[in-house]
Amino acid sequence: MSATDAGPRTSHLAPVWFSVTDLQVASGEGCWITTVEGDRYLDFTSGIAVTSTGHCHPAVVEAIRAEAGRFVHAQVNCYRHDLLEPLAELLDTITPAGIDTFFYCNSGAEATEGAVKLARQATGRPNVIVFQGSFHGRTHLAMAMTTSKTSYRAGHHTLPGGVFPAPFPHTVGTGLSEDEAVAQALDGVRYLLASQTAPTETAAMILEPVLGEGGYHPAPAAFLRGLREICDEHGILFVADEVQSGFCRTGRMFAIEESGVRPDILVMAKGIASGFPFAAIGAPAELMDRWPVGSHGGTYGGNPMGCAAAIATIGVLTADGFLANVNARGDQLRAGLREVASRHPVLADVRGPGLMVAAEFRDPATGAPDAGRTAAVIGHCRDEARLLLMGAGTWGNVIRFMPPLVVDDAEMALAVDAVAAAVDATA
Ligand SMILES: Cc1ncc(COP(=O)(O)O)c(C=O)c1O
Repeated sequence: MSATDAGPRTSHLAPVWFSVTDLQVASGEGCWITTVEGDRYLDFTSGIAVTSTGHCHPAVVEAIRAEAGRFVHAQVNCYRHDLLEPLAELLDTITPAGIDTFFYCNSGAEATEGAVKLARQATGRPNVIVFQGSFHGRTHLAMAMTTSKTSYRAGHHTLPGGVFPAPFPHTVGTGLSEDEAVAQALDGVRYLLASQTAPTETAAMILEPVLGEGGYHPAPAAFLRGLREICDEHGILFVADEVQSGFCRTGRMFAIEESGVRPDILVMAKGIASGFPFAAIGAPAELMDRWPVGSHGGTYGGNPMGCAAAIATIGVLTADGFLANVNARGDQLRAGLREVASRHPVLADVRGPGLMVAAEFRDPATGAPDAGRTAAVIGHCRDEARLLLMGAGTWGNVIRFMPPLVVDDAEMALAVDAVAAAVDATA
């Protein structure tokens, strides 16, 4: 162990990972994790919206276990294993109409970058439009596309070019009605196309239907429809980044369904395989056919254990009653949080579909974002109630609730009580 100015190092791990907790965990089951000391915590982080079927769902564990005994790695360029097509067929049945052909990779960032490569090669255009407050990943192009916080980009400039951020419609803290916010943001997109990236040079717009890291802001349906119209007018592709919002998180299989808007490309990761690193890009066959053979790929994409985990995960997500539970628990959570808000104006907004729910904290006197109170509530829940929560938002004033989607009403009641006690105690 080497020494530093601060004393001897106690870890061989890179310190670059920020920490939500310093818990050392031994195991996970359902909505709960157990530490090496044997303490149980209710995990409303789901490992950043990943373990939607709960930690170690038996069907997913069994699928991975069985597949590992057959094939750990069956590289897709070298040969094709027998779960690639069945998973694609399954994705075809659950993704929005028109999305019928799939490419597999390993992470959300990789899928996002792949989607941009596809859009550029299919259209022959160089630029993409992203939206203020978005998060698309940590790799260089994904960093250039990410505008939710400067800390994700700081120290890395100059980032790849050809990325143009457009405004996202906000009502909380702006005094705008939803209609006004949508009209303003759509004007901003048109202005961008007139002033910075010509339509003929714009390959795609890429948008999270519910901003994730940016603070769990649902994009209004009218905004999504307006963007679709602009895309259709100019032959620009509409890319939905459903890395965080997909796979039942919002009470629908994909968040974009609520608006009825048809994406040209769908980006999927996180909840797709219950925590096995797996991601996918979906698009209509005629669009995928415009991606030159050999111009994209990857060593591990389509990993057989990942395919098995995804197939098992989709089986759990599509079982009778699964979505009904997501929506019922979401209603329970929002109602509980709104009750707290009625007593504490510092809890300025409760929003979000399904179990992609935000609680936003603002100083009632000034309307300014209250990151201090947000952190205090998260800390109180962790230390006093053993409930794990994470923050979000450009200003750090949002708690995002992303429990496993198998959460039951007793577990949800525990969480709501914990948050109520935390807001009371930190007043
Ligand atoms: C909407 C969205 N896109 C992309 C990513 C990047 O995914 P990954 O961390 O798997 O690279 C994330 C991660 O949080 C995300 O929320």
